[in-house]
Amino acid sequence: MGIKFDESNRLFFIETAHTSMCLAVVDDEGFLCNVYYGGCVGEDDLTYLLRTGIYPFLPSHNSRDRGGFLDMARMEFPSSGVGDYRKSAVCLRDEEGHDASQFTYVSHRIFDGKDNLYGLAADGKKIRIPATFGDNAQTLEIELEEKVLGVRAYLSYSIFEDSDAILKSVRLENRSDRTVIIDRLLSSCLDLDGGTFENNEPDIITLSGSWARERRLDRRRITRGNTEVYSTRGVTSHQFQPFSVLCGRNTDDSHGKVYAQNLIWSGNFICGSGIDQFETVRSYIGISPEHFTWNLKAGESFQAPEAVLVFTENGFDSMTHIFHDLFRDHLIRSPYLHKERPVLINNWEATYFDFDTDKLLSIASDAKRSGIEMLVMDDGWFGKRNDDNSSLGDWIVNEEKLPGGLKRLSDELEKMGMKFGIWFEPEMVSPDSDLYRAHPDWAVAAPGRTPCRMRNQYILDITRNEVRDHVYESVANVLRNANIAYVKWDMNRALTDIGSVELDAQSLGRFSYLYTLGVYDLMGRLLEEFPDLLLENCSSGGGRYDAGMIFYSPQIWCSDDTDAFERLSVQSGTSFVYPLSTMGAHVSASPNHVTGRVMPFDVRGAVALSGTFGYELDITAIPEEDRNAIPEQVEIYHRYGELVREGDYYRIACNAEHAGYYDAWMSVSKDKRSALVTYIQCRAYPGGKGRVIKLKGLEPSAVYEIKLVGSDDENSCWCSRDKKAAWEALSTDRLSGSSLMNAGLIMPNLPGDYAQITLEITKK
Ligand code: GLA
Repeated sequence: MGIKFDESNRLFFIETAHTSMCLAVVDDEGFLCNVYYGGCVGEDDLTYLLRTGIYPFLPSHNSRDRGGFLDMARMEFPSSGVGDYRKSAVCLRDEEGHDASQFTYVSHRIFDGKDNLYGLAADGKKIRIPATFGDNAQTLEIELEEKVLGVRAYLSYSIFEDSDAILKSVRLENRSDRTVIIDRLLSSCLDLDGGTFENNEPDIITLSGSWARERRLDRRRITRGNTEVYSTRGVTSHQFQPFSVLCGRNTDDSHGKVYAQNLIWSGNFICGSGIDQFETVRSYIGISPEHFTWNLKAGESFQAPEAVLVFTENGFDSMTHIFHDLFRDHLIRSPYLHKERPVLINNWEATYFDFDTDKLLSIASDAKRSGIEMLVMDDGWFGKRNDDNSSLGDWIVNEEKLPGGLKRLSDELEKMGMKFGIWFEPEMVSPDSDLYRAHPDWAVAAPGRTPCRMRNQYILDITRNEVRDHVYESVANVLRNANIAYVKWDMNRALTDIGSVELDAQSLGRFSYLYTLGVYDLMGRLLEEFPDLLLENCSSGGGRYDAGMIFYSPQIWCSDDTDAFERLSVQSGTSFVYPLSTMGAHVSASPNHVTGRVMPFDVRGAVALSGTFGYELDITAIPEEDRNAIPEQVEIYHRYGELVREGDYYRIACNAEHAGYYDAWMSVSKDKRSALVTYIQCRAYPGGKGRVIKLKGLEPSAVYEIKLVGSDDENSCWCSRDKKAAWEALSTDRLSGSSLMNAGLIMPNLPGDYAQITLEITKK
């Protein structure tokens, strides 16, 4: 394990516990090529894999066909305009418009630790860019040079002792005395030999969706050409994730090669893979070149965000564990990371805009009685906001609704023993707001155009210091004056009509990057002043669910779709990459407000238990039977919260692959002593004799006790007597780990659509 340089062969070896990456400095000019990435190979000289012994040979042996080499070689930092016609990692232009560039090796350094990343705001302020951190890291920095333009590139590769991920980022430095224009700078480019995958045509998996249908697994074959997902919305988006997997056709949850890439960034991105004429597969990820140009003046630097590369030969579960562990151990900074989160009740679906202090207190007091620990007051508490047409930006409490203000409400809640949380949408302004009337130029707008409204709102130009300061102070002032434990930071529209009074024609192409930095700056400042604040991110549900955001908020609202059946797909896609501890999941009313679907209360609870648990309903108005079920659900959440938050997550069955009939997953503690298994029967199966599910991740030789959750209590709402009887007819209470994993357990056929079985598995 570790990073080494073989001086005589000019080879870099980056080795984690189970993977190797090998880079080579090639030919007299010093091209940087990717020789190999995959399972461990030690420190053998693998440069034969570059095929430089066959035509077109290296440029030093064959200068008449230099282009042939550049278009075939597995380039680590491919540039445009000089002979590599595939997707490039970097595209630079000089002031006259010439866009050829070629980067070659200058030097490198290997050091213990890992540097923080910083970007520069429009006024030159250094803003931290989210990136992994930790003591047990080692880094290789390779310096490359573009001789004609006088630009240096610093390619950084870091590994952690306890992770199989490789972290890559790039910084450009203009050492010339002229401006150089960056049209494209991606964070990672990886060329894999065609023979890496069976049949040379791997599958690609992306997470695709829409509002209320976020991050569903989408698997298809790639062939010649490129398959790309992207966002130009200014946020990562509901539609796509900065994430993709390349895998063999037979790769499944437990077997097979997986090459995954992810970007720690919350704005525009591209993420793609393509196969070239020689069957080389090129994957790339980084900031989207669309709506991006950066005029890099003499002496300036530009930092691209960090990409995460993961390889495993043990299927998707193993990839998931690498991401979850990396993010929990080296990216999420919140003091809540390892803490039990308060069970919250959010009033959005309970009241929408129609509430006052009395209504909130009545929800809170019923909630308190049921064991719920925090009330979150959602949209509608400020300005004159009685619908979504006004007042964003006027973060002044509406005393007509909340007499005595937030202070009175939070004091009353405190007396009850309830924590208090509050909703903001800090990046926005309503055209009908005092803020907009006072500062119309603070909204993002292109001169001569009426900016496109979405949800009747505009975006504040937080690339400007003055605007950012105002936004910060207006949020911080509210937090300073009441006892607020939690903030839900929402962002409900995408960027359009880009323009900023402070950015001239030369600098406008920076806007979307600076906007993302602005968000990071605001969140960073907020957590500095309020270090104990529990920040939950949201963007019309899960429109900005990404690795950049979890640097600030340990939990993100997964989707506005709270229908537990729909959530199976959303949560299974989200947890493919992001830890369960980051997934905001609530029990809501039935029929569901988005889909109209009717589902039993315990099934809604079982699905929400896989995330940060809470309620999103009018507890005073739901059927008594459901209200009575809450204390037991809260107790179950507390009993298994740690297992879900800290354990290894395994997919057992996904309803999309089982004709919508059933779904199952489990969390196993790191020491393999305990596990929680959730089985959801989505549709009744006529004539069914019960399904076998095979558990995962247990210790084969250990003996485990198997218990139906809730079965000890005669009056359990979680486990009815009928369910207990159905379970007992087919179950056993003790089995070895190997039997549980190889032979499995039978889930009884339960009457009706939508039923849950939750099992506790404990090592004896
Ligand atoms: C977004 C969020 C919801 C809610 C509303 C309030 O849509 O995703 O949870 O907060 O805004 O307007």
